[in-house]
Amino acid sequence: MKKLKIGVAGLGRIGKIHLNNLLQLSNVEVIGVMDPSTEAVEYAKLKGVENTYTKFNELVTNNQLDAIVICTPTNTHANYVEASAKLGIQIFCEKPLDLNMQRVKDVLKVVDKSKVKLMIGFNRRFDNEYRKVKTSINNGKIGNPYIVKITSRDPSPPPLEYIKNSGGLFLDMTIHDFDMARFIVDKEIDEIYVKGEALIDQEIQKVGDIDTAVVLMKYVDSTLAVIDNSRKAAYGYDQRIEVFGSKGMVQANNIKVDNSKLYNQNGIISSLPMDFFLERYMEAYKIEIQDFVDSVINNRGVSVTGIDGLKSLQIGLAAKKSLLENRPVKIIEIK
Ligand SMILES: NC(=O)c1ccc[n+]([C@@H]2O[C@H](COP(=O)([O-])OP(=O)(O)OC[C@H]3O[C@@H](n4cnc5c(N)ncnc54)[C@H](O)[C@@H]3O)[C@@H](O)[C@H]2O)c1
Repeated sequence: MKKLKIGVAGLGRIGKIHLNNLLQLSNVEVIGVMDPSTEAVEYAKLKGVENTYTKFNELVTNNQLDAIVICTPTNTHANYVEASAKLGIQIFCEKPLDLNMQRVKDVLKVVDKSKVKLMIGFNRRFDNEYRKVKTSINNGKIGNPYIVKITSRDPSPPPLEYIKNSGGLFLDMTIHDFDMARFIVDKEIDEIYVKGEALIDQEIQKVGDIDTAVVLMKYVDSTLAVIDNSRKAAYGYDQRIEVFGSKGMVQANNIKVDNSKLYNQNGIISSLPMDFFLERYMEAYKIEIQDFVDSVINNRGVSVTGIDGLKSLQIGLAAKKSLLENRPVKIIEIK
């Protein structure tokens, strides 16, 4: 069996996850990795990857890659995707593609022209709990959806240095929820209104961001959605979805560290939710990267497209505008 030759760019938190998952796949050969940090390069060598580079160009021009997995900081994605597309390399790129709509549109044109695949890393679409919610909705189990409720709270904020370059809460964190809101009911968003504050850490406000938000959205068919976000939940990573419809309701609740419960005269105590995204979505990341590999091997369309990336960015930018101007914003206002 011919193995797919894959390179991995960027070996930080998410790059290491993708590398490890790729190394488990029998139809893949990880040909090389790139990362400017010595620690990352050493990590790859320990994992048995022979070719390590500190420059992106060296990775993509030296190895006749079939595909690349891009996990570098956000501000490098657009350039790296364009460079890979021009070389005819199939691309998986972490979210977001870029923080600027025009730049994303330009990149998508290059990708289209090069006729390569581009899949965006919205890993939550591959989570089994959310898939069950979607299947129930698709099978008519809750009738017509009326309200989509997404709770997405992190256990603690990232470092200030990360926040400064992240594009802000809506483009860094809520972008996953915007994508989920579209995915779970297969509908587009028409309008958004947000309230956001820095309630956890004033330093976050000083760098121009918020850490707590409530988002209200209307889909094109008038279905409603609400998202609540926090950068710090005292009890850990809180990830829940509920969809309420004409015939009932379907929920995906937190997955706990274990299923044990302590019952005594004070009440019933259960374990906390899984700590953070690397644990909570461990399975989803595996299914996601396998899905990308399958799409390349079987030459079929990818499950999460560049347009999906563009749409969630557009909603995120509309959210920022709503916060700034303190008013409901139509998604089409963001060109
Ligand atoms: N889908 C998800 O669940 C998810 C989770 C986390 C991060 N992300 C996205 O993945 C990307 C990386 O995030 P992270 O949390 O792994 O960051 P990170 O800071 O942990 O890792 C980034 C890595 O890239 C390397 N790097 C720095 N500059 C580089 C450059 N110019 N070229 C190549 N490599 C460079 C760094 O040395 C580091 O190893 C971001 O775009 C982020 O939005 C997605």
